[in-house]
Amino acid sequence: MDRIELIASLAKDANSLVDCGCDHGYTAIKALKSYNVSHCYLLDINEGPLNNARNNVAKENLSDRCDFILSDGLKNFNEEADVLVIAGMGGLLISNIILNDYEKVIKFKKIIIDAHSEIEKLRANLISKYFVFDNEILIQDGKHNYVIIEGHFDLSKRMKYDLLDMKFGPVLRQNQTPLFKEIIRTKKKHFTECLKKATDETSKSKLKIELAYIQMLEGTNK
Ligand SMILES: C[S@@+](CC[C@H](N)C(=O)[O-])C[C@H]1O[C@@H](n2cnc3c(N)ncnc32)[C@H](O)[C@@H]1O
Repeated sequence: MDRIELIASLAKDANSLVDCGCDHGYTAIKALKSYNVSHCYLLDINEGPLNNARNNVAKENLSDRCDFILSDGLKNFNEEADVLVIAGMGGLLISNIILNDYEKVIKFKKIIIDAHSEIEKLRANLISKYFVFDNEILIQDGKHNYVIIEGHFDLSKRMKYDLLDMKFGPVLRQNQTPLFKEIIRTKKKHFTECLKKATDETSKSKLKIELAYIQMLEGTNK
């Protein structure tokens, strides 16, 4: 299963899905065609990608089940929907989209996030705003590994996530899949080799901290 298909599958049976930053529109198309999603709202900040999505949806004869909204994050979205997808962007941009329209975002039953960078900062921001990590799935698609986060906000209770949860993902570190273990092994090897070659004290300190996190993770797994 590729990344887009996995994201679409997580929205299975939803009445309505919002794809914020839809670009090509493939996630909505997959969700409508294969995963019994009834209606999609496709949002993008740029006209070009939104038109691209509109054309791709039309080619599949799905236009009557879609709305297209030009919007910076959720600013111009004023409907109710079950599932929110924010995928294929940096973690800090995703954080900003969520925090800028927090009152809207907390209403979604399910939020699916696929950040392509700065995932630790994203997790920290989500945790500080009462996010519940229901699942995290690590997949390999082509040459890249992706972390797909599934969750929701629950303002009535703050989950007890710690520093290692923020760093490695609360569900990922719990599940310890072979891919997760391989990524940690590769990182450990990389940081150790970099440390041997490092000459300045700042780089050495940073690498030692990264290795200490991995040691702490290994310690909790024993
Ligand atoms: C790399 S594409 C990802 C497309 C798709 N979601 C995916 O996962 O393959 C990022 C898209 O997000 C849009 N985008 C960037 N910032 C945005 C924002 N603040 N609000 C809505 N869309 C945004 C871009 O125009 C672009 O179409």
